Amino acid sequence: MKDIRILAIESSCDETAAAVVRNGRDVLSNVISSQIDLHTLYGGVVPELASRKHIENINPVITQALLDAGVTLAEIDAVGVTYGPGLVGALLVGVAEAKAIAYARKLPLIGVHHIEGHVCANLIEHPELEPPFLCLIVSGGHTHLAMMEDYGLFRILGRTRDDAAGEAFDKVARAIGLGYPGGPKIERAAEKGNPSAIEFPRGKVDGSPYDFSFSGMKSAVLNYLNHAAMTGETVSQEDVAASFQQAVVDVLVERAVQAAEEFGQDKLVLAGGVAANSALRRALSVACENRGIRFYHPSPVLCTDNAAMIGAAAYYHLIRGERSGWDLNAVPNLPLPG
Ligand code: KG4
Ligand code: ZN
Repeated sequence: MKDIRILAIESSCDETAAAVVRNGRDVLSNVISSQIDLHTLYGGVVPELASRKHIENINPVITQALLDAGVTLAEIDAVGVTYGPGLVGALLVGVAEAKAIAYARKLPLIGVHHIEGHVCANLIEHPELEPPFLCLIVSGGHTHLAMMEDYGLFRILGRTRDDAAGEAFDKVARAIGLGYPGGPKIERAAEKGNPSAIEFPRGKVDGSPYDFSFSGMKSAVLNYLNHAAMTGETVSQEDVAASFQQAVVDVLVERAVQAAEEFGQDKLVLAGGVAANSALRRALSVACENRGIRFYHPSPVLCTDNAAMIGAAAYYHLIRGERSGWDLNAVPNLPLPG
C-alpha cells in the first residue's frame, strides 16, 4: 500500500505546532514553537497575544516540519488541523492555514478534535494499541474518563464538574507563588515535599462515580494558605505542592481503576498535558500492574500540545473517507465525538 503522509497543524492554545506523520503512527517531524516565555510575563495565557504569535510562527513552523521530514508539499497527501476545542482566535490561525494549503494543493482537509488528538498520541509510541480502550484525559481544559470505542468515537463515562485537573494545578501554583506554567512547577516543588503533610479533600460527586471535582481541592489549598497567613504559621511551598499533587493523583487513579474494573477493560490510556506528571504515571502504573491492566502513556513531549498527535488522529478519519468542507471553522467548545 502507498504511504500516506499527513501534514498536521495545531494552534489551539499557546503552542504553534506542525508535524508530518506517515501512515498514522510514524512521526517524520514534530515541530513545536512554545509561547510559554511570553505568557509567563502575564501569569497565564493571554488569548489575543497567543493569536498574534501563532500568525507570526505558523509559516516558519510548517516550513521546518517539512524540512525535518525531508518532504515537500508535493509529497503530502492530506492536511489535518485542530478545529476545537480551544481559544477561538488561536484555532482560527491553524484552521485558515490548513484550508489555504489544502485548497491550493487540492488535498483532502481533515478537522480534528484536540482531545481526540491527545488520546491518539498514544498510538504513535504503541504500534500494537487499537481501540476499544478506556482513557483518562487530563489537560488544562479537560478532565474526562471515556471509552474510545473506535477511532474517533468516544463514550464519556465521567467528566469534571468544575475545574480541569491541569487548571487546578495552574491555579494552585499561582496561589503558592510558583507561577505559570503550574503543572511542571508543582511537580518539581513536590519532589522536595511531604505528600502526607496536609490532608486535602478528595472531592467526590454524589451519584456520579466517574465525575470529578477539583475546585473544592483548590479552595482547600486557598483556605489553608489564608489560615496560615492569619495565624502566622510558616507555609512549606514544597509540602503544599506535594500534598495537593497527591490528592489529585489519588482521585484520578481511584476513578480510572474503578472504571476499568466495572467496564471490564484491560487497557488504560492516559492523555493530555497532565499525563506528563511523573507522580501520576507512577501511581497509575502500579495500580494497573496490580490489577492486570495494561497501562499506556505518551512520552512527555507528546503529552502536551503537539501536531504529531493531530496527524495520528487525522489519518484514521482520512482512511475512512471522511473529509472536512471548505467551510471548516474554529469551534471553541467542540464536544468529544461520540
Ligand atoms: O494538554 P495541554 O498541553 O493543553 C490543553 O489542551 O489544555 O495541557 C496543559 C496543562 C496545563 O494545565 C499544565 O499545567 C498541565 O497540563 N501540565 C502538567 C504537567 N505538565 C503540564 N500538570 C501536572 N504535571 C506536569 N508535569
Ligand atoms: Zn491540549
